[in-house]
Amino acid sequence: MKINENTLLEGHKVVLVPYNADHVPRYHEWMKSPELQQLTASEPLTLEQEYDMQRSWREDSDKCTFIVLDKQRWADTGVEEEQCMVGDVNIFLTDPTDPSVAELEIMIAEPSYRGKGIGKEVTLMMMCYGVTKLGVKKFQAKIGLDNQVSIAMFKKLQFQEASVCKVFKEVTLELTVDESVRTRLLDDTANVKERDYRQTCSNRQELVSS
Ligand SMILES: CC(C)(COP(=O)(O)OP(=O)(O)OC[C@H]1O[C@@H](n2cnc3c(N)ncnc32)[C@H](O)[C@@H]1OP(=O)(O)O)[C@@H](O)C(=O)NCCC(=O)NCCS
Repeated sequence: MKINENTLLEGHKVVLVPYNADHVPRYHEWMKSPELQQLTASEPLTLEQEYDMQRSWREDSDKCTFIVLDKQRWADTGVEEEQCMVGDVNIFLTDPTDPSVAELEIMIAEPSYRGKGIGKEVTLMMMCYGVTKLGVKKFQAKIGLDNQVSIAMFKKLQFQEASVCKVFKEVTLELTVDESVRTRLLDDTANVKERDYRQTCSNRQELVSS
């Protein structure tokens, strides 16, 4: 999706930035991990295929993705952006007849960043972006039945079980965005600032001093 190609979202612990070609090598390294392949139900790709995938996430109108950066680290201009990457988050508009239905995917790829509230913060930020900028009215998350952490996180965010597919060993959790969900979401993300990505890149220290 082009809509977020110059969007930076600043949260408490993270900044979300558009997925661009500079991020691909680190992303490709992450996805060599058998654990991450299993938890995210992904097939390993060659570096070339990963670049193609990045382009498709940027160009296709049904996909929106952000890379998750450690905010504190990124504010240090001496650190390469690639070294601040901790994960990614995606929205995929799965139903061509109804663009208000979105599948949500999140990955905190760096194990040392898990269990610190980052997954929850990023998911809420992406949901808010989906609701306010893309008009999403229903979120779905497809999660491996063994992935208890992810299931627990989405349930904590009020997602409910919609179906279980025994063949793929996966559960689909859903959340319909009614007025009360929308209000809560806006409340939970009231701190989030939207900035111009390219401009902020040239003055990263602003993030910790503002
Ligand atoms: C699943 C994932 C996104 C969760 O993000 P996280 O940053 O580790 O989780 P958070 O610290 O934000 O915790 C959010 C909730 O998850 C649950 N959770 C987190 N760690 C947990 C653990 N070790 N055991 C059980 N539940 C846990 C809790 O419900 C927690 O809410 P609480 O802290 O209010 O109780 C992250 O662990 C991850 O990316 N894992 C690898 C890839 C993956 O599984 N992606 C999801 C594919 S569907």
